[in-house]
Amino acid sequence: MKKITIAIDGFSSCGKSTMAKNLAKEIGYIYVDSGAMYRAVTLFALRNSIFTADGIDEKKLQSLIPNIIISFVLDPATGLPQTCLNGENVESEIRNMEVSSHVSPIAALGFVREEMVKQQQAMGKQKGIVMDGRDIGTTVFPDAELKIFVTASAEVRAERRYKELQGKGQNPNYDEILKNVVERDYLDMNREVSPLRQAEDAILLDNSHMTIEGQQTWLLEQYKKVVGA
Ligand code: DC
Repeated sequence: MKKITIAIDGFSSCGKSTMAKNLAKEIGYIYVDSGAMYRAVTLFALRNSIFTADGIDEKKLQSLIPNIIISFVLDPATGLPQTCLNGENVESEIRNMEVSSHVSPIAALGFVREEMVKQQQAMGKQKGIVMDGRDIGTTVFPDAELKIFVTASAEVRAERRYKELQGKGQNPNYDEILKNVVERDYLDMNREVSPLRQAEDAILLDNSHMTIEGQQTWLLEQYKKVVGA
């Protein structure tokens, strides 16, 4: 069967990653979480004193960016990809609140996006890839054969992230998460470089009232329609 490129974009915490991950597993495609790459750059910036009292030290980050190598390795126990920053598994650390609240301004920097997009396009060269993010259908893979744009209400998304963090043994604060979700929506949609928007040829999915299984069935149907299965 022909291999295609699948782009899944949308708002933060709307279940894109779960959908994309499950679909990739089911159809034997590579899954790439592009948000994890921006999170890994943010963790690097936090560790290297790039956030200063005067804002982001862009010059320093730009000079260090060639030293940031992001890769994904499969966890042998779960079969799920783990994000690595210069060889160190940072999958758990990049999901904490500190990274979440610093990632938007890093993801808004043109030179950071340029580097990430280059790496993402290289990962998708052979097709057979499901990538999720904000600009996959618009900038990274504008020719993707299947594009989905996912949304859900801010409250539903905050609740989902709250449960996810709780499940990981963290002690989250719902109001703080909701504030972070709303703030990130605004920043993602209003940044100058590659703002979050639905590609003209993307299919819109509001999953506020859908189960994970329901979404999965829906997504698989969209894939089958494109490949003619
Ligand atoms: O999907 P996420 O919440 O893990 O994404 C983290 C941040 O990275 C979020 O603020 C948006 C940004 N991002 C982006 O700008 N472009 C992408 N392709 C993916 C994520």
